[in-house]
Amino acid sequence: MSFNGRISALSERLVADNCGVWAVHERAVEQHAKGEDVYLLSVGDPDLATLPSTIRAAIDSLEKGRTHYAPGMGERNLREIISDIEIKASGKHCDPSHVVIFPGATNAIYSVMSCLLNPGEEVIVAEPMYVGYESIFKSINAEVVPVKLDVEQEFNLNIERIKRAVSANTRVVFINTPGNPAGNMISEAQLRELADYCLSQNLWLVCDEVYSMITFDEEHVSLRKAAAKLDNVVIIDGLSKSHAMTGWRLGWTVASTEFSQRLLDFTSSTIFGCCQFVQDAAAFALSNDEEYIQGVREEYRQRRNYVCERVAAIPGISCQVPKAGMFVMIRVDQLAEDGLSFAEDLLKQQKVSVLPGVGFGQSTRHYVRVSLAQPINILKPAFDRIEKYALAQLGQ
Ligand SMILES: Cc1ncc(COP(=O)(O)O)c(C=O)c1O
Repeated sequence: MSFNGRISALSERLVADNCGVWAVHERAVEQHAKGEDVYLLSVGDPDLATLPSTIRAAIDSLEKGRTHYAPGMGERNLREIISDIEIKASGKHCDPSHVVIFPGATNAIYSVMSCLLNPGEEVIVAEPMYVGYESIFKSINAEVVPVKLDVEQEFNLNIERIKRAVSANTRVVFINTPGNPAGNMISEAQLRELADYCLSQNLWLVCDEVYSMITFDEEHVSLRKAAAKLDNVVIIDGLSKSHAMTGWRLGWTVASTEFSQRLLDFTSSTIFGCCQFVQDAAAFALSNDEEYIQGVREEYRQRRNYVCERVAAIPGISCQVPKAGMFVMIRVDQLAEDGLSFAEDLLKQQKVSVLPGVGFGQSTRHYVRVSLAQPINILKPAFDRIEKYALAQLGQ
């Protein structure tokens, strides 16, 4: 007799439906693993190394036996360090009761949204959006209401459009600054206006700030700094990108004491605390990172400048210069029907993989995303190939 058990509707909802977006990347990774001469500009994992002294701090912690259960909200020492950083960034009161530690920002977003949304309730989210959001929102059966950024004007947030999208069923407005994929930044005035509006409508305002330390031309402004009142405000941050620590899985939320307690209840049933030695290493990293972060920022700035200069010199493609983050969005509709066919053909013809913009929403279907998580000595030959491809498409 064959087994006939069902899987849950939740699991069905999460069956990937990504319109072939990752297929290009996965094919390229396979070819690369086989030793083929492929350039992977589709990855979001920093190539930079974790600070060696942070690794040493983790080893020291392990050797001290820090391998047991940790407090549900996170280690007090780490939460104190984060609340001090928050005080500096916002000029507002913050203490460890406002901070909860998670195994990565992804889990923090999932936990926050699980505590804010009932099935069928709406979350408004600015689009193009980070590819991970939609599946998190789907996992809790939330209705996702995408609101387009002004794609042709530096991917700016349009608050009027958000206001028009709010319905009686809306519970959360979710924003991301600096943004993935576009490297856009939401201004202090806009953050304040949105926070005031959300408060007046009894809406939560959640802001993903994981690229807050990778800014090029202006300093990141935290939602907590901009908002006049913090009752309805939650921010999410983490070490994956800024400290090249994707594999350590360390993120956090900053929210009101009351909501942080709700998060504690939720994480107590779903996570039951994060690794002690990872939290010790995170505490070390956040206390000893000034020079390191400057170096990271400078490295990405040089890569961004290089990529934007190359794009400007290649006929048929164009980009807006991102203000922050690890990615450049390139418009390709003069060369291909859309970003997906461009990415597929570029991999086939020139063995360079880029991510089709449709993965971030329909408004960027004519774009591809290039990652800055590769050094210039890889970006250079990769862009030589992109140039060759563009010239061939244009018959030049
Ligand atoms: C905007 C954004 N938020 C969250 C994440 C996930 O971060 P973490 O590795 O901490 O889960 C990413 C990763 O690419 C991201 O780009």
